[in-house]
Amino acid sequence: MEAHLLQWLQLATRWLHVIAGAAWIGTSFYFNWLNDSLRPSSETQSGVSGELWSVHGGGFYRVSKYDVAPERLPEKLHWFKWEAYFTWITGFLLLVMIYYLGSGAFLLDPRVSQIGRGAAIVVGLVTLFGGWVVYNALCRSPLGKRPVWLAAVLFAFTVLVAYALSKTLSPRASYMHVGAMLGTWMAANVSDVIIPSQRAMVRAMAEGVAPDTEKGKQAALRSLHNNYLTLPVLYIMVSNHYPVTYAHPRGWLILAAMFLIGVIARHYYNLRHRGRHVAWLLPAAALGVVGLALATLPDTSLRDQSFVGSRDERAAYPVVRAILEQRCVTCHSATPTHPTVGGAAPLGVELDTAQQAVTHAERIARAVESGIMPLANLTGMTQEERDLVVRWVNEGAASE
Ligand code: HEC
Repeated sequence: MEAHLLQWLQLATRWLHVIAGAAWIGTSFYFNWLNDSLRPSSETQSGVSGELWSVHGGGFYRVSKYDVAPERLPEKLHWFKWEAYFTWITGFLLLVMIYYLGSGAFLLDPRVSQIGRGAAIVVGLVTLFGGWVVYNALCRSPLGKRPVWLAAVLFAFTVLVAYALSKTLSPRASYMHVGAMLGTWMAANVSDVIIPSQRAMVRAMAEGVAPDTEKGKQAALRSLHNNYLTLPVLYIMVSNHYPVTYAHPRGWLILAAMFLIGVIARHYYNLRHRGRHVAWLLPAAALGVVGLALATLPDTSLRDQSFVGSRDERAAYPVVRAILEQRCVTCHSATPTHPTVGGAAPLGVELDTAQQAVTHAERIARAVESGIMPLANLTGMTQEERDLVVRWVNEGAASE
């Protein structure tokens, strides 16, 4: 009952997280595009630096951008911040629910390290909040004046964090914590730098004094970072569906490569909005993904070896059945009994019958080969058992 309700709570939180995230990224993409697409105004209006006409949903829209501020502020001014805050809050709640509460099945992996649950949670929180302290200090240091160097240092820092986490937490948790750290930078950029700078601008305007340009520059720098971080963070958000990336022995390196690919794709659009069409950037990003897919192909030479041998030497199904019963079925069943799962088999993978085992054979092989299953090896599967199950799949997954 408890596990069942927790599943619903997770679902609701995840739903909200995706909704808030879509709203945040939607406005962020829109304003970036808008800013780069403004053209000089046809009518001379004092203080207006650019304007844009568009059509959408049955209406024409005309947007003007002011150089600094209009002569008089309107009564109602829309701010864009709750999308960001709500994305962070729901994301943090998900992190707590999935990784920190309960037994730590998603947080820990005895094949990676022997760290305890409490220590792992501390590592996670330090990554989020300590990561922001380091990032914020770097942005405010003299390096902040050299954006390209700053970006290189921030990238190196992120890769270092990904590497360190990959040696500490479960592969899936280490990916998600890198994403949560970057998401924290983005949300804190909004709450601690961008919104305060906008408030200062409005205040200066009301008092009739010139706004502080230094604040404005930091805000612009942070906005630029948020812009480039969107695609890498979106990738990490969906990465938990793809053990081919996070559970790879060099998962941290794949993360680094996907980060760069996301940045390149974003860069292409940033340039294009400003009228520069650098045609090779998107194909380069796509080739990067193809290159990664090829570079991480499973080693088939091992697979071919298992076909050598007579029928008798093949992995027999009854042995495999016994392994699945002992190591998997407590969770992967129509009626799971393990306390970490709710009333239904995780991701619908039920392994109660021979037919189901055969249907899911390829997924089973991938899951036990990469080590992501059994979850946190809670059921104590041995290496010999893993080899045997993988061999059974490679030999054609026969059920008699
Ligand atoms: C303690 C519970 C538990 C045990 C034991 C367990 N699993 Fe899982 N398994 C899960 C959970 C939870 C997920 C869903 C993970 C997610 O949400 O991405 C999962 C997902 C899977 C998936 C889907 C992965 C994918 O994305 O394709 C497969 C396949 C799988 N398990 C196979 C196995 C096999 C085979 C065993 C036994 C060797 C096993 N599991 C043991 C809890 C368990």
